[in-house]
Amino acid sequence: MSHLKTKHLLGIKNLNKEDILLIFQTADNFKEVINRPIKKVPSLRDVTIANIFFENSTRTKLSFELAEKRLSADVINFSASGSSVKKGETLLDTVNNILAMKVDIVVIRHSSPGAPHFLANHIDAIIVNAGDGTHEHPTQALLDTYSIREKCGEVNGKKVVILGDILHSRVALSNIFALQTLGAEVMVCGPATLLPKHVGELGVLVENDVRAALEWCDIANVLRIQLERQEMRYFPSLREYSKFFGINRELLDSLKKEIIIMHPGPINRGVEITSDVADSDHSIILQQVENGVAIRMAVLYLLAGRVD
Ligand code: CP
Repeated sequence: MSHLKTKHLLGIKNLNKEDILLIFQTADNFKEVINRPIKKVPSLRDVTIANIFFENSTRTKLSFELAEKRLSADVINFSASGSSVKKGETLLDTVNNILAMKVDIVVIRHSSPGAPHFLANHIDAIIVNAGDGTHEHPTQALLDTYSIREKCGEVNGKKVVILGDILHSRVALSNIFALQTLGAEVMVCGPATLLPKHVGELGVLVENDVRAALEWCDIANVLRIQLERQEMRYFPSLREYSKFFGINRELLDSLKKEIIIMHPGPINRGVEITSDVADSDHSIILQQVENGVAIRMAVLYLLAGRVD
């Protein structure tokens, strides 16, 4: 069996092109498995995985759990709400107590950037980053680029705009790394206040005009405004944001070409995207979710090759 060059999946930054292509190739096999009448394989029968989520999640949490069950792993789930974290227990104590129950892999989502890296330096288990604050969300970028490859045949040479709240987005950073590694051209677009000051140094094009961005791109990955991470106002109102930066049918119809629409979810319908765009034939939003299970199966399978 081939392995990833890394013990943990902490970010896309730690993966090279061969790693990403190996994950895609493995996901192709698992996608075939999960479309069979019997969707389960025994690959991780002796592996125990803890999903520890200190932040809310629907897609990532359910997708990891389903991927683990499809691989026949033993699974335990932990949510900070309702746990002893509320009594003051630290992250390290929480995880060490979970590990005392003989856990091999920890999938962690945390609001603090670097929390998965901290764990990787302090405990023996394999760590998978399921989103750390505004930093990285590697499996989201893998499923996004896998979905582009599935829809377009390849990622290399495609023009992808990431649109919206780039400043607070872990999806944006992981997507930039993954898309560039696979040879895509990347643009970020949004209000100047929601673009990090030095984002151009990542080798991306920077644009404030949504129409210009859409005319340039083949694919638009539309992001949610992360109000929960904003301590101040970055734009006057959601209505104004929607008017100047929202994607609607009229805007898409006025372009001289058709583009593919993506969104990592959760969607704020009527803010960054209207329903007639999110639910249109140009949208691959639900294919992204479907591919998330195969990608997470592939990541867990490849990392579990290192479990003793
Ligand atoms: N895309 C994503 O991370 O969604 P959740 O927050 O629902 O997991």
